[in-house]
Amino acid sequence: MSFPFQISSREQYERDYQASIENPEKFWGEVASHFLWRKPWDKVLDWNFKEPRVEWFKGAKLNITENVIDRHLETRGEQPAIIWEPNNPDERTRVVTYNRLHKRVCQVAQMLTNLGVKKGDRVCIYMGMVPELAYAVLGCARIGAIHSVIFGGFSAQSIADRLEDTNSAYIITCDGGYRGSKDIPLKAVIDDALVGNKVVKKVIVYTRTRTPVSMIKGRDVWWEDEMEYAETQVEKDGIVSFPAVEMDAEDPLFILYTSGSTGKPKGVVHTIGGYMVWTAYTFVNVFQYREGDVYFCTADIGWITGHSYIVYGPLAVGAQSLMFEGIPTWPDAGRFWDIVDKYKVNIIYTAPTAIRSLMGFGSSPLAEKDLSSLRVLGSVGEPINEEAWHWYDENIGKSRCPIVDTWWQTETAGIMISTLAGITPSKPSWATLPLPGVEPVLVDEEGKVVTTPNEDGYFKGNLCIKTPWPGILRTTYGDHERCRTNYFATYPNLYFSGDGALKDKEGNYRITGRVDDVLNVSGHRIGTAEVENALNMHAGVIESAVVGYPHEVKGQGIYAYVIFEGKMANADLIRQDILQTVSRIIGPIAKPDKIQFVQGLPKTRSGKIMRRILRKIAEGETENLGDITTLLDPGVVEVIKNGKV
Ligand code: PRX
Repeated sequence: MSFPFQISSREQYERDYQASIENPEKFWGEVASHFLWRKPWDKVLDWNFKEPRVEWFKGAKLNITENVIDRHLETRGEQPAIIWEPNNPDERTRVVTYNRLHKRVCQVAQMLTNLGVKKGDRVCIYMGMVPELAYAVLGCARIGAIHSVIFGGFSAQSIADRLEDTNSAYIITCDGGYRGSKDIPLKAVIDDALVGNKVVKKVIVYTRTRTPVSMIKGRDVWWEDEMEYAETQVEKDGIVSFPAVEMDAEDPLFILYTSGSTGKPKGVVHTIGGYMVWTAYTFVNVFQYREGDVYFCTADIGWITGHSYIVYGPLAVGAQSLMFEGIPTWPDAGRFWDIVDKYKVNIIYTAPTAIRSLMGFGSSPLAEKDLSSLRVLGSVGEPINEEAWHWYDENIGKSRCPIVDTWWQTETAGIMISTLAGITPSKPSWATLPLPGVEPVLVDEEGKVVTTPNEDGYFKGNLCIKTPWPGILRTTYGDHERCRTNYFATYPNLYFSGDGALKDKEGNYRITGRVDDVLNVSGHRIGTAEVENALNMHAGVIESAVVGYPHEVKGQGIYAYVIFEGKMANADLIRQDILQTVSRIIGPIAKPDKIQFVQGLPKTRSGKIMRRILRKIAEGETENLGDITTLLDPGVVEVIKNGKV
């Protein structure tokens, strides 16, 4: 069975694409009619990119959890919604049916209400990949609280910053989390983040690892106790209910922080109606999900991929979403393939960095794994190089599964440019064609649309989008001006993605990477300014400059040039100390791969660091460093070159 808005042929793609561009209101009004609204919209779309202001399904009322859960109960109550595979393959797996998900989400909604959480309140969630994380997210949505999930690898300081920015009074966490052979002490990190915090009223702690944790009277409560009590309230005579709170289509659903080119991460805000329609529509069409498929997205719910393509998109169409707690290489590098074999996975969606790291183990982890259930392979988060693309195609897809290379961002909520599996053609390391509703345009530095191809026959420019799609970000939390200047001011009347791209004559797009000071390390976005701020906090560091360099597994590695004051008796130890500081300030994911101590940095006469030169040196380039005559002290370049690590 196909879904009402499923594109089933190349011709239909062309037709739908045209229709979505010519009359977006009609097109999206039709798609949205397949969802459950308490009150229909007065207007499908109202927008201008100047302010910016974008409103989809204006005036409509709904609750997203009635769409992702309640409306499936009659037809598929006993079908799995979430299939959970724990970190340790010997531990019991959990299959959460739609009925069970409904009950748990009602309980969470009741528990949050009991603890004082109200519509519009912000709830920070810092948990490992357990089903309770999905319940927590959906429980917030059921009562109209705004969730802000923080990835489990962020430090106490990062959490404290996000708590302050969202002014959150509530946190949901775990005692600890499992990741491969490691136990991550989540509650202890929260405790550090809360030192001096006067705003947080309640911390709910779910027991996962049975790590000893401190529990502060009046503030910290156990998930299990609260849920048990809530169960007595939501279940009467075998009937489970907790009334979903009626929300406006444009009420915020969640805040998710992401890095930009400034030092401080931005809280991207998505609203309910458009987000729901966009994630469900793109999920069905890109992956060509079929009734009964088992779909496995390897991301963490702490990132946008997990929000949109583990939780909301799949559940909105009643899919079976497989959620995995562990890592690809533990207990061995066959972990993903064991899972595919065990659950007869039909669709897998992962990141190039995982593919590259698994490639390094050769084909032995694949031996005796039955991958014949696979039909579609997905890639997300960073450009996929041709070598990884072919390895994925040949070894995993056995050259019979389409690969969908999906380009999108936290800000876009869902997939923007991608092959539609089996419908439009794949092209190695090209994201290919825009989805219906997406009007990309490539512009040069001055904002002029690129109309002449380069010598290779490609149009090359900065990737912008001309008109709003339902999942576009609405604001950055607490600072709308920041949203405007970051995304809508570089080129007037366009949304600017921050990525560079090529387009071929057939209209296919290839994303070449960020054109701003944002790095993509193992598919994680990290701002160079953010890392520099953290480095500069280390005692003895006077100044630093951070650039990216090509890294075989991570895509990009972090290279830091550091001016250090004082004696360098043991440079290695100082390096370790500096890495500790970065871990403390941001988290282990932001630790530089290389630190080079330098005496000075290449600066222009006006004091601006010339990163172009530093980038080239980090990339191993020694000859063609470009024009260095504008430098205050060109001699510094030679010294840096000679000291490359
Ligand atoms: O540079 C692009 C890269 O990841 C950035 C978005 O990062 P984030 O908001 O963390 O979201 C990641 C998951 C969607 C983009 O600006 N990126 C994402 N997907 C691709 C990609 N680069 C190339 N090809 C992709 N398929």
